[in-house]
Amino acid sequence: MCGIIAYVGRQQALPILLNGLKRLEYRGYDSAGIAVMNPDLTIFKKKGKVINLEEHANANSIDSTIGMGHTRWATHGEPCDRNSHPHLSDNKKLAIIHNGIIENYATLKKELQSKGHIFDSDTDSEVLIHFIEDIQENLRCSLEDAVRIALTRVTGAYAIVVMSQDDPDLLIAARKSSPLIVGIGKNEFFLASDATPIIEYTNQVVYLKDFEVAIIKNGKLTLTDLENNIHDTYIKELDIELAAIEKGNFEHYMLKEIFEQPSTIFDCMRGRLLLEDKKVYLGGIREYIDQLSNAKRIVIIACGTSLHAGMVARYLFEEICRVPVEVEYASEFRYGNPVIRDGDVVIAISQSGETADTLVAIEKAKEMGAIILGVCNVVGSSIPRASHAGVYTHAGAEIGVASTKAFTAQLTVLYLIALQVAKEKGTIDNERFKKLITELDLIPEKVQQILENSYIAQSLASLYMDAKSMIYLGRGYNFPIALEGALKIKEISYIHAEGYPAAEMKHGPIALIDEEMPVVFIATKDHTYEKIVSNIQEVKARKGKVIAVVNEGDDVVKHLADHVMEIPETDPLLTPLLAVIPLQLFAYYTGVLKGCNVDQPRNLAKSVTVE
Ligand code: F6R
Repeated sequence: MCGIIAYVGRQQALPILLNGLKRLEYRGYDSAGIAVMNPDLTIFKKKGKVINLEEHANANSIDSTIGMGHTRWATHGEPCDRNSHPHLSDNKKLAIIHNGIIENYATLKKELQSKGHIFDSDTDSEVLIHFIEDIQENLRCSLEDAVRIALTRVTGAYAIVVMSQDDPDLLIAARKSSPLIVGIGKNEFFLASDATPIIEYTNQVVYLKDFEVAIIKNGKLTLTDLENNIHDTYIKELDIELAAIEKGNFEHYMLKEIFEQPSTIFDCMRGRLLLEDKKVYLGGIREYIDQLSNAKRIVIIACGTSLHAGMVARYLFEEICRVPVEVEYASEFRYGNPVIRDGDVVIAISQSGETADTLVAIEKAKEMGAIILGVCNVVGSSIPRASHAGVYTHAGAEIGVASTKAFTAQLTVLYLIALQVAKEKGTIDNERFKKLITELDLIPEKVQQILENSYIAQSLASLYMDAKSMIYLGRGYNFPIALEGALKIKEISYIHAEGYPAAEMKHGPIALIDEEMPVVFIATKDHTYEKIVSNIQEVKARKGKVIAVVNEGDDVVKHLADHVMEIPETDPLLTPLLAVIPLQLFAYYTGVLKGCNVDQPRNLAKSVTVE
């Protein structure tokens, strides 16, 4: 959600900013803008993709070694040039870029308007720069102090960078609940929402904490809090390769990430699934394994695709760890009145580690005394830092906005946690444990086999790309996969789709079935197989079109269904790791055939940092 990049050093800023914005575009892509200094503050802003901005900015080539850029996901004010960032103060000498929401902007705006401030946009962000200007003029204080004072009066979320024409080598940055990192190069500094735009220049970074202010001036970085107390600077090393954030030979990031899954699942298990020792060991939660094993209840909080991983985990923990599990949308948990009791453990799942709803839900659960374990992909992001402990999914940077490889990595981590806990508690016998870890170890090569048959999903996509609506059905472990399949097709191809537990069909959705309605069944072999075969017959009896994900060699469903996508056999408990792959491919190819921007679907953004 909105991407921020800023640079100060000895290189030309403009190409670094434009390049950075392209890498950040997956965070939001309604409009983009840049501020550079030559010698006055010069702003370029354009609605739409960064490419539009690039043409505009390059036509006005600017010599500047300082600047900042922003790619927007609109919250307040429609996407247009005027509402794009950076925004300027009244005297046009201060500029700001902002990611987040200033919740009390309306009150502040009224106050400032009554003092004569004129606003050029409909955004909440512009209010902040006028407010900073107002404080600086009234208190005759430094810009740094004005920023700090302004931020004490702001409610909501922000990651900001401020530049001033009167201080042409100064960058001021601050964050609360929206991510911001400082990259430290040789005689140069970067500020960015995440590591993707700076990784090619440096791997030395400082993760700003909430309410921290970074002042970069005269080649020096100083960190303070809002009361101007100096903070220590902890430099961390980034662990990402540039190749990991490039498309390589793939047409889209989404396809690359789908095809990376054999290796991301393998990497996720590396050093954790110890087949020879017949053991699972997760270092990240070693200090909390007793609490987890003795938990009276596990509460899982997440959003979107991560929530679907949590729903699979519910079946899993209940089956092999014999512990009750509740799965909650983080947004509902946060605004509800949840009950957290002694002995409850909360597992928060998030690819980005920055999802605002999940982050706030964690804070709420923590206040109520829960132990929080995070399952996250982005190292050093806010959710792992807000959690007591956790396990990284190590899927590498996921750039495609629709989550694919992060989902299977989340599932893999959740399987590992459940297996370790079940072993610890003695709720699984040795034979079953051994069988499951042996099967889990085989998953990467089975995923590879499915990918080798991706042409099947592609040909089905060409048959169904004009559908108006689809239904996805599954039972037990495959019910969350039905939800995930429906979510993927909605996001990527804009076809309306709903997922249901297959048995629920007869309680309502069956009314939708006619010869126009494709119904996607996940009909793999488990204890509900016979039931799901009956459900397929019910759809066929009403002339619905059936696409079924089945185990290899399943002739029964093959004869009933219109089309099948086969997956290798595995333990039924592990099926989600395989069954989701053809559904990801089906959504991808449908989106591509419909001419949709599969990497950046309309209205979406990676990393939803507003509530
Ligand atoms: C769907 C998708 C979203 C995210 C959701 C949570 O493809 O990517 O539904 O899963 O926004 O994001 P994270 O996992 O970053 O907390």
